[in-house]
Amino acid sequence: MASSVDTDKLTLLLDRLWGDFSRINPQAGAIHLLLERRGETVVNDHIAFRTFADPRVGIDVIAKPFVAAGYTRQQSYQFKQKKLDACHYEHPDPTLPKVFISELKLQECSQTVQHLVENLLSQIPAETLNDPEFCLSGRPWEVSYADTNLLAQESEYAGWMAAFGYRANHFTVLVNSLKTVGSLEELNTLLKESGFPLNGDGGEIKGGPDELLEQSSTLAPPVTVPFTDGDAQVPGCYYEFAKRYPRADGTLFSGFVTTSADKIFQSTDRRDAR
Ligand code: NI
Repeated sequence: MASSVDTDKLTLLLDRLWGDFSRINPQAGAIHLLLERRGETVVNDHIAFRTFADPRVGIDVIAKPFVAAGYTRQQSYQFKQKKLDACHYEHPDPTLPKVFISELKLQECSQTVQHLVENLLSQIPAETLNDPEFCLSGRPWEVSYADTNLLAQESEYAGWMAAFGYRANHFTVLVNSLKTVGSLEELNTLLKESGFPLNGDGGEIKGGPDELLEQSSTLAPPVTVPFTDGDAQVPGCYYEFAKRYPRADGTLFSGFVTTSADKIFQSTDRRDAR
C-alpha cells in the first residue's frame, strides 16, 4: 500500500511532468486554455513514456515512482513492426491517470542502432540512473543531429528518444469528461478550426466503439533541440484525445488498442522525411 508521502510525491511528479511536457509542446497549454474557456475541467486519461529495452533504463525503471505510489502493471502490448513492447499501469484511484510505457527492443535492431544507443546509454551518470524519478531526467546524453537522423531512418522512435530522452511523450485528454463536446469527431473539428493539425495516419480517429476506445492526436510540432553539430528542429511532443466506452460490466474500458496505438506513435515522425 502506498503511503501518503508517496501520493504527495506522485502529485508533484505529475505536475513536473506536465510542466516539462507543456514547455516542449506549448500547444498543449493552448488546448487546455481553449477547453477551460468553454467551462471544461480537463481530465488526463494517461501519460505515455518511451525508453529502450535495456536493464538500466527499461520499462521497470521508468515505472518505479508510479509503482511506489501504488500503481500496478496491467496489460502488455506488442508492436512487431516498430519493434516495441509496451504495458500500462493503473492506480486503484481511477481519477489518477493511467501510465503507458513502451520500450524499443534493441536486440531486434541493426548493429548500427544498437551501437548508437549504447553510446547514449553509456553517457548517463550513475546518479541519474539511480534517481527514483529517472522518468523525468530529460536527455542525459550528448548526441549529434547526424546520429539522431541515422537512428530515425531505422526507427523514428529511436530518433525521438535520442533527441528528447526521458520525459512525458504525451498527455491525453479524456473526452468522456468533457461537457461541451459530445464526441471525439466534434473535438477534432474544434481543434482543427483552432489551428491545431491532427495526425491523419490511419485516419484522424483510431479505433471505435467496437474496440471500446477511440483516439486522436495532434502532430508533434517541431522543437529546436541542441545537438553536438548544431541546433536543429525535430518533432517534439504531442497531445492525445481518448474516448472510452463501457465494458459488459458497465465500467469504462481502461486498456489500449494495439492497432490504434501503432498509428499514434507516428505523431512524432519527421514529416519532411516522407
Ligand atoms: Ni497515448
